Amino acid sequence: MARMSTMPEDHVETANPSPLNDYDRIAEGYTAENETSLLNAYYERPAMLELAGDVTGRRILDAGCGSGPLFSALRDRGAIVTGIDASAGMLELARQRLGADADLRVADLAGQLPFPDGAFDDVIGSLVLHYLEDWGPTLAELRRVLKSGGRLLVSVDHPFSIALFQHMAGEKPKYFETRSRTEEWTMGGRPPR
Ligand SMILES: C[S@@+](CC[C@H](N)C(=O)[O-])C[C@H]1O[C@@H](n2cnc3c(N)ncnc32)[C@H](O)[C@@H]1O
Repeated sequence: MARMSTMPEDHVETANPSPLNDYDRIAEGYTAENETSLLNAYYERPAMLELAGDVTGRRILDAGCGSGPLFSALRDRGAIVTGIDASAGMLELARQRLGADADLRVADLAGQLPFPDGAFDDVIGSLVLHYLEDWGPTLAELRRVLKSGGRLLVSVDHPFSIALFQHMAGEKPKYFETRSRTEEWTMGGRPPR
């Protein structure tokens, strides 16, 4: 079972730390990139906010909230937001952005979530599900924490863009094949381990 803890605490551990999903190490660099990048700041986040529409008073789980840019925007629009992420490093930056009162918890979306049934009106998962090998248990768990008639709003890396980048790098991916994919990112001068 996934290890989970809640913040704030003196010591918060990343859930299931993995060198293959090492957001702790690139937290600051990724956050800086995310603030201004075409993909995040001008494409995905505005699209997700438009999809969410009027969120006044809605209880929203920001699943894989990272350093909290979407959490912040939803809260500004009147939502009651909870953020979870596997990376304690990303959540530390979210804490700095959102303040001591923000409901932020370390949790692995591959495991059981620390919420009762029907706790949320909406679950939003921005650019996170593609990190999970098996979506089945995660989707079941997100369904459990949503109220009846609640909404699940999800974005993932578009498979066509990934295939295009791989072709440009000289690879020959089979578009319809299910496979795991690893990218190495250098963010803020911190290469992956
Ligand atoms: C591409 S970032 C997106 C962050 C944020 N949703 C945004 O759009 O700014 C992916 C985030 O998913 C988190 N993540 C990856 N796998 C996860 C998992 N199994 N459980 C919870 N969070 C995970 C990472 O730590 C990282 O913060």
